[in-house]
Amino acid sequence: MLARLIKPSRFPFSSFSSSSSSLPSHFPNPIRFRHTVTPLTAVKPNMSAPAAIPPAERVAHFEQDVWSIFTPLALECQAVNLGQGFMNFPPPDFVIEAAREALLHNECNQYSHPKGRPRLRNALAKSYSPLFNRQLDPETEIVVTAGANEGILSIFAGYLDQGSEVILMEPFFDQYISNITMNGGVPVYCPIRPVGDVSKDMSASEWKIDIKELESKITPRSKIIVLNTPHNPIGKVFSREELEEIGALAIKHNLLIISDEVYDRLYFNPTTHERIANLDGLWERTITVGSGGKTFGTTGWRVGWLIGPKNLVEPALAAHTRIVFCVNSPLQEATAIGFEQADERKFFGSQIHAYEHKREKLLSVFRELGLPCTVPEGSYFILVNTNRIQVPEDYLFPDLLKSRPKDFRTCYWLTKEIGVCAIPPSEFYSKPNRTLAEDFARFAFCKTDETLDAAVERLLKLKPFIK
Ligand SMILES: Cc1ncc(COP(=O)(O)O)c(C=O)c1O
Repeated sequence: MLARLIKPSRFPFSSFSSSSSSLPSHFPNPIRFRHTVTPLTAVKPNMSAPAAIPPAERVAHFEQDVWSIFTPLALECQAVNLGQGFMNFPPPDFVIEAAREALLHNECNQYSHPKGRPRLRNALAKSYSPLFNRQLDPETEIVVTAGANEGILSIFAGYLDQGSEVILMEPFFDQYISNITMNGGVPVYCPIRPVGDVSKDMSASEWKIDIKELESKITPRSKIIVLNTPHNPIGKVFSREELEEIGALAIKHNLLIISDEVYDRLYFNPTTHERIANLDGLWERTITVGSGGKTFGTTGWRVGWLIGPKNLVEPALAAHTRIVFCVNSPLQEATAIGFEQADERKFFGSQIHAYEHKREKLLSVFRELGLPCTVPEGSYFILVNTNRIQVPEDYLFPDLLKSRPKDFRTCYWLTKEIGVCAIPPSEFYSKPNRTLAEDFARFAFCKTDETLDAAVERLLKLKPFIK
């Protein structure tokens, strides 16, 4: 089926206007200020005062994010940090060795093509063609990005005009929001709700989107819908039927689909990961996003990729070229070698097996404590229902947490008093819907077995606080 044209934004950075008239009224107008007539020699700068140069509107309202509260807190309390989703174990030896080797070749220390190094694009095409049931063209259908995050930013920069709407399912990966608003877009939210009994263990598949509610969020300004499967933080892997329903909406309303599949190599038996781009008529309107960081445990390398039809990835490539020009060369090379060797080493299968073992380790302590969990089908997060934890009523919380939902206080107390840091998932909801998550905490299990054992031991101290 031929897709109707999904138009790129007029120019990738058309929303980055510097017009002074768009400044909020309470900011001094820097342009007017420069036109004052005081002779330069008469100006006696006060060297100790901070310069009052207002930030751009697009960054002026960023709230203190969850990471800048909980990461230092975990450090300060020497808590076992199951908050942030990074691995505290090294990437596989063959990938590390490839990175070391890459540094010895001069061409790997120089600029790469903005689309990505041919070796990596070829390796991605070889690895992903069977998964997309089509021969991917490494020249036109794959772009290497600085992590999945920059890839997603580039898609928004390439497609959004001022006021364009992006449909997000919440909870969402928090970086989506600034990536949208920095490009003039407007996020529009639809919650994924637990439909099972949250007072018992439930499968992540029991969190569902109401397709009618989702459709009700679409307006003539809607341009993009973002899907994340396997999902952070629910661990849900969307079923084929769910993808078909979402895909049908995208076709009906001519939306571009961003399918964020950064955890596509991390789904657990017996779940299978379906790709929306493989459904009838949806390759034509989908850009799939991947992450070397999640695939090989190299989150700091910042290597990711976009896969989609040539006409769809081109506007994203145009924006990506302006944002980073190209991705660091040696680690692209090492990621390419990772893919080239992964099958022969049976790497992806054994990685899944290791994560299943970690998932069980952490689930077992919550079962022992009688705290119901959402059992993830993929990704490396467990949502735990903390409703039964009784935080002492007279516990003193910092002012900073008073305006935040209850899960911020539960996670603060867990970090400070139990010594295990988890993340409050209300951070991954729009403000009006934040209370939907306030009885949950997100624990990451992409950690060494020793770290998980230490967390289990500390979490057992929760017993007297469970009602
Ligand atoms: C759902 C989701 N999308 C995108 C990303 C970003 O991936 P990367 O580190 O490759 O930028 C993450 C990272 O946590 C994520 O959880």
